[in-house]
Amino acid sequence: SQELIKRLEETIENFPDFPIPGIQFKDISPIFLDPKLYEDVIADMAAFSKGKVDAVCGIESRGYLFGIAIAVALEVPFILIRKKGKLPPPVISEKYDLEYGSAEIETREGQIKKGQRILIHDDLLATGGTTEAAAKLVEKQGAAVAQFSFLIGLKDLNGTERLKKFGAEVYSILEY
Ligand code: PRP
Ligand code: MG
Repeated sequence: SQELIKRLEETIENFPDFPIPGIQFKDISPIFLDPKLYEDVIADMAAFSKGKVDAVCGIESRGYLFGIAIAVALEVPFILIRKKGKLPPPVISEKYDLEYGSAEIETREGQIKKGQRILIHDDLLATGGTTEAAAKLVEKQGAAVAQFSFLIGLKDLNGTERLKKFGAEVYSILEY
C-alpha cells in the first residue's frame, strides 16, 4: 500500500557511493528497529503469495531476513539457498557470473520437492544475476518458480527483464 511504501521510504537509509563509487547503498537495517513496520512488511509479502506457493526459497544472507517470516506466515516450508561450501552434501549447485569472476549457490538435496510451486525471495533485485541462478537451481530440482518477491527492485538494471523467461509473477514493495 502507499502508506507502507511511505513508511519504508522514511525508514530505509540511502548511502551514495557505498561500498564503491557509483553505488547507491540502501540500508534496510532500520526496518528491524521497528517491529510493527517489520510485521506489516511480512503481512504485505505474505498477501502477495497466499495460496500460490508450496514453499519459499530465500537467498543468503539478506534474503533470510524476510524470507523465513514470509514462509511462517504462509505456513509453508522455508529452504535456504546458501553460498557454496556452507551446506553438507549432497547438495544441488548452480554457478553464475558476476561482474568479475563467478559465484555458486546451493541447496540441500531433497528439500525442494518435485512439482512444488516455489516463491523465490530476496531483499533486493538489482541485475537479477543472483535471482536468476536461484530460479535455475529450483527448476533443476523439478519444481516450478511461481513467484519472485523483493523488498526493493532497482528498475534501471533490467533485473525484471532477466526473470521474464521463468514466467513467474514478480513483486517488489519499493521500486527505484
Ligand atoms: C545483494 C542483495 C541480493 C543481490 C542482488 O546480496 O542482497 O541478494 O546482491 O544483486 P543482483 O540482482 O545484481 O544479483 P549480496 O551478494 O551483497 O550479499 P548479502 O545478501 O549476503 O548481503
Ligand atoms: Mg543478497
